[in-house]
Amino acid sequence: MILFKTAFQQKLLNSLCARYFWSKSKQTYGVYDIVSLGDVSPPRAVPQYLTLPSYAETGIVTDEPESNDDCSPEIKTKGQIEMMRQSCKLAKFVLDSARSQIKTGITTDEIDEFVHDLIINNNAYPSPLNYKGFMKSVCTSINNILCHGVPDNRPLHDGDIISVDVSVYLNGFHGDCAATYCVGDVDEQGKKLVSIAEQCMYNGINVCKPGKSFSEISKAIELYAYNNEHRVIPCITGHGIGTFFHGPPTIFHTTQNTYPGLMEPGMIFTIEPVVIQGTSSDIAILDDGWSIATLDDSRGAQFEHTVLITENGCDILTV
Ligand code: MF3
Ligand code: CO
Repeated sequence: MILFKTAFQQKLLNSLCARYFWSKSKQTYGVYDIVSLGDVSPPRAVPQYLTLPSYAETGIVTDEPESNDDCSPEIKTKGQIEMMRQSCKLAKFVLDSARSQIKTGITTDEIDEFVHDLIINNNAYPSPLNYKGFMKSVCTSINNILCHGVPDNRPLHDGDIISVDVSVYLNGFHGDCAATYCVGDVDEQGKKLVSIAEQCMYNGINVCKPGKSFSEISKAIELYAYNNEHRVIPCITGHGIGTFFHGPPTIFHTTQNTYPGLMEPGMIFTIEPVVIQGTSSDIAILDDGWSIATLDDSRGAQFEHTVLITENGCDILTV
């Protein structure tokens, strides 16, 4: 999720994305292709017998709760948790299956087709499709594209890193997860970026248990990235999830925030930090209205799990 939607969030973004005054010494980020926008094929068809989310036909989301500081996160019932386990399990299965497609020469549009068909064959709807007008069924974000990349006709190149973000809507509940994969031979700096991003996510997950504040997550994530000479993008956040795709709580991955509240059993949310190589967290939304790119072209990597707070700790649902 990205915090841009309201004036309130735009203001927050501007303050969060202020340039960091960190060392400028590390200016080389490895050898890789800088990605720009390609051609996007028409949206793929969806069978009408599926349970569709509110926006499937119109692109307008009518079933998401407000996500400001005043909205408390939903506490899921046993029944809802069981439904979430199923949708999250399917999302992870599709993400793992998509991994087998990642090879030099395949286009992100072909990955989209694979993911779309697999989700539909499992009686679910690909959550990104037509969500606020998103054109495709999965997000594919390569190298300097941090997240929300729209699948297009660009073939994968040897040395790319690609994040694949799979979300499904199964029987009325969303599940959401992502991972970054290496294509062929990736340089050492790229591999290091990917492993730091994954560890950041797990460090965030590992602090989750009842009574902890949400800011504990951001601390664990940002500290690990910082200690390993990497940065986390402030305005790309995790989110509550359920019958709605995005809702409270907003999960910040950087410490510069004032988000209130404590974790309670039954809360379900995603943790999805984007870690970059660069020294600047300045970003831009490209002309497709979705793809988020670094301004200095440095690469980013993202991992995401959906997590349930339990009585004693947490369960990763996207397993
Ligand atoms: N995990 C991503 C997020 O929560 C999924 C985005 S799908 C999109 O931001 F349609 F919103 F792009
Ligand atoms: Co998400």
